[in-house]
Amino acid sequence: MSPSPLAAATHERVVIESFLGGGEHRTLADDVLDGLTRPFKELPPKHFYDEHGAQLFDQICELPEYYPTRCERAILTDRSAEIVEITGAAELVELGSGTAAKTRLLLAAMHEAGTLDRYVPIDVTESMVRSSAQTLVEAFDGLRVHGIVGDFERHLGHVPPPVDGRPRIVAFLGGTIGNFTPGSRRRFLRSLSALLGPDDFLLIGTDLVKDPAVLEAAYDDSAGVTAAFNRNVLTVLNRELDADFAVDAYEHVAFFDRDREWIEMRLRARRPQRVTVGQLGLRLTFAAGEELRTEISAKFTPERIRGDLAAAGMELCDSLTDDDGLFALNLARVRSTSS
Ligand code: SAH
Ligand code: AVI
Repeated sequence: MSPSPLAAATHERVVIESFLGGGEHRTLADDVLDGLTRPFKELPPKHFYDEHGAQLFDQICELPEYYPTRCERAILTDRSAEIVEITGAAELVELGSGTAAKTRLLLAAMHEAGTLDRYVPIDVTESMVRSSAQTLVEAFDGLRVHGIVGDFERHLGHVPPPVDGRPRIVAFLGGTIGNFTPGSRRRFLRSLSALLGPDDFLLIGTDLVKDPAVLEAAYDDSAGVTAAFNRNVLTVLNRELDADFAVDAYEHVAFFDRDREWIEMRLRARRPQRVTVGQLGLRLTFAAGEELRTEISAKFTPERIRGDLAAAGMELCDSLTDDDGLFALNLARVRSTSS
């Protein structure tokens, strides 16, 4: 059956490139070999997001305790028109785009202003890139989508150059910048700064330091969705690397480290565990109570935001917060050499 004229027309406006293949599998293997053989075991958070993990993250965003999504959505609802007016952007590049639910607010403001041309989402979850691309070309007349299925730490070089040098916004929403450790956070911000031309802006969401009880509830919800999200990484290892983690033998742990001002998520072995990672010929042991760190989620102060941007050669233009001051959406650009 030939596609309907509408489907064919929208199809022509979508290009998806994938840079994840065998190499990605090796990254998971390398991260396991590196992270699980250390005295203090650790894995990077990007491995949470297989299809099931991405669905669990969506559920997290709707939880009463998880305020960041609601706050960032409120800021975008109120201020997208202003952001578009300041930037004059024709193009939106988004890192870790997920479902792009909040992104629609920005795209709608660009459409309203008559500047909207192209959206470039980048995410490791292929199904998310494909489905959001299709939904968005159907929602916005004339919008083109160039989706990148890839790792934003390794594939930024594949972001297409701006069309006719028109201004763009590089968006990094949701507070995902907080999932980097401080040194790699600044290194990553430098690579984002290198993506920005003189007329481009970085729009970056940062969760703010607040009452530890509010923070800890957001990462240890009463329905247990965050616990399932955390344990899902073990299911990914079982499936992808032929490991045999007894997933329920690990307890979800989330706490606010007051000195470092970040949330840490860990998985704690309830009893001694022996684990084999078949594809790597690796045998691991966990003592009772031993923990594996699966994520940090750094919380920011205005000074930390400015300091990190400055260290990456950028300056803060504006910092927009929700009414309760829980979350900030920051607009930055490359520091001009004259200032
Ligand atoms: N921006 C969305 C989603 C945030 S969740 C929001 O604000 O709600 C983090 C997203 O980043 C997920 O969609 C995950 O798949 C993606 N992600 C995590 N690490 C990544 C990496 N290294 N490269 C590309 N995408 C990554
Ligand atoms: C994607 N990232 C910003 C989320 C966060 O809040 O650090 C991931 C998450 N982890 C547990 N809940 C949500």
